[in-house]
Amino acid sequence: MLTMKNIIREGHPTLKKVAEEVKLPLSNQDKKTLKKMLEFLQNSQNEEIAQKYNLRPGVGLAAPQINISKRLIAIYATDEENKLHSYMLINPKIISHSVELTYLYPCEGCLSIDREVPGFVLRPRRITVQAHQLTDEGEVVPVTLRFKNYMAIVLQHEIDHLNGILFTDRINQDNPFYVPEGVQPIEF
Ligand code: NI
Repeated sequence: MLTMKNIIREGHPTLKKVAEEVKLPLSNQDKKTLKKMLEFLQNSQNEEIAQKYNLRPGVGLAAPQINISKRLIAIYATDEENKLHSYMLINPKIISHSVELTYLYPCEGCLSIDREVPGFVLRPRRITVQAHQLTDEGEVVPVTLRFKNYMAIVLQHEIDHLNGILFTDRINQDNPFYVPEGVQPIEF
């Protein structure tokens, strides 16, 4: 199983790289990687296991964070309507997004960043993602998924990792708490 030891931190060059497209059909190794990533997130949200292995709770993980520079992400997060979103995605791509922006309040967090970074990350409130999905049954199917609010932020944060971008890169350097007029936060 993955633990915090497998997660690379800020400063590691892999976090700055654009990750490689994953070839289909999906190799067994890539399947294993995705399953391990999802399992890590589940474990990290299980109080007993998290305590035992000292896991920081996470809702999303991108393969570059475990030093695998491939376009794979796992998501395990509950939205504001209490719906669980559990995904293992291959080559996810944002194909459209709203003009309306939002930001997570008080801040975003990242398993690869151990310090608190003050500032807001402005992001589109709604996105549409095209990807291939590894199902619980082990099948790989093309999907088009729509996300809004908190989930849209989680997906954008993870897809950013595939492009070598950390949330800290998106904070306005001169004015970290700048919010354009009319932009409302997501409080979670
Ligand atoms: Ni992150």
